[in-house]
Amino acid sequence: MSMNGETTNPNIQLKLLELQQKNEAAYRGGGADRITKHKQGGRLTARERIDVLLDPGTFVELDRFATHRCTNFEMEKNKVPGDGVITGFGRVNGKVVYVYSQDFTVFGGSLSGTQAKKICKLLDLAVKNGCPVIGLNDSGGARIQEGVEALGGYADIFLRNTLASGVVPQISAIMGPCAGGAVYSPSITDFIFMVKDTSYMFVTGPDVIKAVTHEDVTKETLGGALTHATKSGVAHFAADTDKQCLLLIRELLNFLPGNNNDDPPTIETNDSPDRIEEKLNSVIPDSPKKPYNMKDIIKYTVDEGYFLEIHEFYAQNVIVGFSRFNGRPVGIVANQPSVLAGCLNIDASKKAARFVRFCDAFNIPLITFVDVPGFLPGTDQEWNGIITHGAKLLYAYAEATVPKITIITRKAYGGAYDVMASKHLRADINLAYPSAEIAVMGADGAVNIIFRDKIKNSKDPNKERAALTEDYQKTFANPYRAAELGYIDEVIEPSLTRKRIIESLEMLKNKRDWMPPKKHGNIPL
Ligand code: HXC
Repeated sequence: MSMNGETTNPNIQLKLLELQQKNEAAYRGGGADRITKHKQGGRLTARERIDVLLDPGTFVELDRFATHRCTNFEMEKNKVPGDGVITGFGRVNGKVVYVYSQDFTVFGGSLSGTQAKKICKLLDLAVKNGCPVIGLNDSGGARIQEGVEALGGYADIFLRNTLASGVVPQISAIMGPCAGGAVYSPSITDFIFMVKDTSYMFVTGPDVIKAVTHEDVTKETLGGALTHATKSGVAHFAADTDKQCLLLIRELLNFLPGNNNDDPPTIETNDSPDRIEEKLNSVIPDSPKKPYNMKDIIKYTVDEGYFLEIHEFYAQNVIVGFSRFNGRPVGIVANQPSVLAGCLNIDASKKAARFVRFCDAFNIPLITFVDVPGFLPGTDQEWNGIITHGAKLLYAYAEATVPKITIITRKAYGGAYDVMASKHLRADINLAYPSAEIAVMGADGAVNIIFRDKIKNSKDPNKERAALTEDYQKTFANPYRAAELGYIDEVIEPSLTRKRIIESLEMLKNKRDWMPPKKHGNIPL
């Protein structure tokens, strides 16, 4: 009998039973024992992860019955429907996304030719339909039994990740091992999330390292979430648990458009666009040598103080992340005077440049808060290529065509003034606080160079230096020379920051700007 009481054809009932049995086989994955073992470390199963990530009841699975075709090592006797990856589509806060989730209980989630085909199908659909892709990675790498078919499968995915880059947002979560070729697909994607203690990424593992370099290192130290979130910068987020990781991905997606032709989603806010924030008038300390926390300025300015920081623990001398102004998403880049005095170094330049390029690719306006004494000096920086890496940020800001608004809160010295979304790099609105100091360098350094002889020959060199420094400070340690030249559009009272940014964003709503036609530029990699 069917549910409405009609008698169903027995033949159909048999077929429905067959379907049900096949579905159940797919849901069993690698079997109860492997699932129990997998969950011991606090991990969720591949299907549970999808359930947490997506709006309830919205997941539609594709290719549930796909199996591998490998006959090496009697593999034909060992097939699990789905072949170790669950793929499909669903919704996050109502918006369609594509998702794949590797199942470690099936051949260790290893990538077979079939698995690669499933992931490629998904990436092709996502690009054609303009929706984000989220990959939940938990895999022992290339399926060893398949040899080159698995390797080819990886390359097929890398190609699609590359073609999709800048077309749809791509997000990777690393929720288990991720070794060898398995690290390269995530690294092409826009954001990498890791889970502390249960996930790791490396090109070669501890055993190979021991054999080649004789170093003793654990998996966690080599490539755990904290290592990649603090040292290498490979991971943008390090979550405490699977669940927290998946909820964070949802949070990030709320800021992003589905594709490069869409605008990011605007939401309702209770924070008034006209809010004047008096607290901002007292954040900058009296002495230019004293640090302060730039995050205070961000929090006092953005909608409801909400800032989703990216790369929070990496290159902390620069801050990047998403916020909203009057409900509209923006990318924020800011120097952090409380870490390395806010200097730009190699890591900070790379971190900020990548973020600027992401925002530009996906139509997210850029708000830049500047307090930068320059590039970090030293042989370490020079020998490791600060010239090339610093130029990345310059290049990223110069090519960005989204609305760009810059606020100089205090120091904007030297090359770093140019780099940090200056007017000269096509920024649309450049504001400065009265405390801004826009100069080639700080007063002490400048006086020591241009008045070296005068100080040396003076009867009282210290007194002479102090007088010259004060004079230099009066001349250059202010925003007014830049304002005379039109490099600064307005010098504002800090309390007006939010209001001015929102007015400027509104004015720039229909901004259109282009790059000259070319195949692609040659960013200094
Ligand atoms: C096939 C694999 C597999 C793989 C794991 N399994 N990795 N099967 N191919 N690559 C299977 C195991 O046989 C086992 O099957 C099950 O998955 C769970 O594995 P365990 O070893 O029991 O789990 P665990 O102790 O947690 O260790 C996980 C692991 C380890 C660290 C990932 O399995 C491992 O080192 N695997 C190999 C990693 C690797 O070298 N991959 C190739 C990388 S090279 P049973 O039946 O017992 O449950 C590569 C090249 C691509 O990826 C290059 C592209 C550019």
